[in-house]
Amino acid sequence: RPRATPPTRLTAAPPPTVRVRAPGKVNLSLRVGPVQDDGYHPLVSVFQAVALFEEVAASQVLPGAGVSLTVDGPQAQLVPTDSTNLAWRAAVLLAEHAGIAPDVALRVRKGVPVAGGMAGGSADAAAALVACDALWETGLPRTELMELASRLGSDVPFCLLGHTAVGTGRGHLLTPAMTRGEFHWVFGASERGLSTPAVFAAFDDLTHGAASPVGLADDTALMQALRAGDPTALGAALHNDLQEAALSLRPELARTLEIAHETGALGAIVSGSGPTVAALARSRQHALAIAATWTAEGAADTVWTTTGPAHGARHTT
Ligand code: C5P
Repeated sequence: RPRATPPTRLTAAPPPTVRVRAPGKVNLSLRVGPVQDDGYHPLVSVFQAVALFEEVAASQVLPGAGVSLTVDGPQAQLVPTDSTNLAWRAAVLLAEHAGIAPDVALRVRKGVPVAGGMAGGSADAAAALVACDALWETGLPRTELMELASRLGSDVPFCLLGHTAVGTGRGHLLTPAMTRGEFHWVFGASERGLSTPAVFAAFDDLTHGAASPVGLADDTALMQALRAGDPTALGAALHNDLQEAALSLRPELARTLEIAHETGALGAIVSGSGPTVAALARSRQHALAIAATWTAEGAADTVWTTTGPAHGARHTT
């Protein structure tokens, strides 16, 4: 009997690849206590993930090839592509933890402003952890991934978790928060980022290292607004203890906040350590109007409209 001819393969099969998206965040409230001996500040923060995502693709490589990394998307040229990149560090940390070789090709696609106080780099780390865990079939329980995440940076656990959550400690001890509905956000980002340690240092100067201790009770109105899905009440309750410090380093952000208020924003704050400014809008239409006004007035280098809450680190289909 004639044997069947095997099909001719014209191109090499692409290497197995896992794709994971993780969100950026805005701090709806950020309360900062006095600096501790370890250099960190105790925080109480209410985080909300927003639908601006970083995507990390992790592809199989030959054994012994090690880690490689490319970055593309908006502002990609501002991101390091060596072993200092948080996605790279995440891959190395997971491999060490699992006792395997860190062999992977990582491709990062930016969707969150770089060095903007929105945890874009932390989202890369969260996505890389989940992607490599799947690619290498290390199958870590969620709690172990969260623990590795907190070693990579204070905001990485939240980028894994997503949605809306209250963070304490360095911001890494998380409790999910109940929310209703969808909130409309506008973000005005600057070409030039701000260094988080520099903003915390400015905070120490402004408070003479003696900031008031932080507590959960201060955000009762905010939590109520979230549960009710009331954007007006949420706008009024937005709070950021780092805002003054960020403004001391970037005085021009005061005008960006002012324009948002003049355009009817329900609330406007510096996002995290800045310099991105976040404005809460009544609707998608209103968000676009605020974005257009910022652009027309030259108050932001790039504007982004989106919604929150958004999901945490998740495989893309
Ligand atoms: O944890 P992560 O590496 O993201 O923090 C970056 C820097 O931000 C720290 O080195 C520290 O200067 C500052 N930070 C802080 N208190 C926190 C979180 C971060 O002082 N709770």
